[in-house]
Formats: sequence, structure tokens, C-alpha cells
Amino acid sequence: MLILALDVVDHERALKVAKDTAEFVSAIKVNYPLVLTAGVDVISELSEIRPVIADFKIADIPYTSGLIAKIVFEKGVRAVIAHGFVGRDTLQEVRRVASDYDGEVYVVTELSSTGGKEFMSEHALEIAKLAESVGCDGLIAPATRPDRIRAVKSAAPSLKVLCPGVGAQGGSVEDVMKAGADAIIVGRAIYNSPDPRESARRYFEELRSVREKI
Ligand code: XMP
Repeated sequence: MLILALDVVDHERALKVAKDTAEFVSAIKVNYPLVLTAGVDVISELSEIRPVIADFKIADIPYTSGLIAKIVFEKGVRAVIAHGFVGRDTLQEVRRVASDYDGEVYVVTELSSTGGKEFMSEHALEIAKLAESVGCDGLIAPATRPDRIRAVKSAAPSLKVLCPGVGAQGGSVEDVMKAGADAIIVGRAIYNSPDPRESARRYFEELRSVREKI
């Protein structure tokens, strides 16, 4: 599965890239850069093109975290991404809100950037187990470190694993899928390419051929 990380900061361009790549993309991940420039209603517009995952990396007290989740589910998102290091109470509240909308919750274990190794790695497996015990749907794990994908998958075998870090951050589709990922999340390598549709098509085809080999 290919998820488009749509971190462009121009409303019209965002809609164009979303429409141009829709045939090859299973979901669109929206993050602060787009919403802070185009406004939160862009979520509803994109939801008409493909299911939207709100990547606001929710990391607050349960009340505020639940409120953030409620606002974006009201705008039509299919899933939210929350941080796991905030602990059980926040994840439970986000899970409760998501259930009201039949929505999904994905939990960040450790960031794909180098800094993810400084503090988060040490607790990533505990976070994965916590997410599973709270009834979340999946984890966000680093495509840049396939060994860590394997590790979180064995810690929380019932959860899906979505992996950002392919393309601009150097992760390889084959390594990530062999490590057990359920989806790759790709941003710059698609929306900054001269032909985003063609780039999305190539990732889609690569995913298909890798899956046939596994
Ligand atoms: P690029 O352009 O690097 O975009 O393909 C990646 C997208 O994914 C987000 N990202 C992460 N989100 N955990 C997350 O929850 C991570 O480890 C991580 N690494 C990248 C990034 O913000 C962008 O939207």
C-alpha cells in the first residue's frame, strides 16, 4: 500500500497532486505544513479524493488530545496519528474518540530521523505493546531502519505498520516490505518530482513487484 505524504504548502497544488496521483495512492497523509497554510477544511476536500490520515502527532493530555482527534474526525479523516510516549491515558482517549467515528489510530514508535534514536528507540517496543493493548490499529515505524520495523512487528504482531522514510530520507521499498511493513509513506519523492503521477505509479509498481517476491 502506498500512502502519499502531502506536505506541500499551496492549496491548489495539494489538490492537483492528490488528484493526479489518486489512482496509485491508498490514502493521503496530511501534516501541519498543509493545514497551517491551506486551512483545516482542506482535509474535507482531500477526503473526497482519497481517505485522509491526519498526522498531527497528537501528544498532549487526554482531554486536549481527544479534542484534536474529534476536530479532525469531524472534518472527515479516516485515521489519526498519535505519539505513544505520552502514555496510556492519552492513547485510550484518542482511541475512544476514534471509535465514535469508526476511525483508526496509528501510534509513532520512533521517528525515522537520526534523532529518533536518541530517546525514542529505547522505548519503542514498550510503545508498540502499549498501542496494541489499548486497541490501536497500527504503528508508524521508520523505513530508514528496517531492523526496527521487524522489532516493533514482533512486539505487537496484531498491528499494521506504516513506514515513512522511503525516498527523500533514503529508505528502500524492498527492505521495508521485507521487514514486514504494511504500507510505505512517501512525500517529497512524489510531490517534488517533475511528474508526481509518474513517480506515484513507479512506487505502486515497485510495491507490487516486491510483494510478488516476498
Ligand atoms: P518525506 O518527504 O520524507 O515525508 O517522504 C515523510 C512524511 O512522513 C512524516 N514522517 C514521520 N511521521 N514518524 C511519523 O509519524 C516518523 O518517523 C516520520 N518520519 C517522517 C513526515 O513528517 C512527512 O510528512
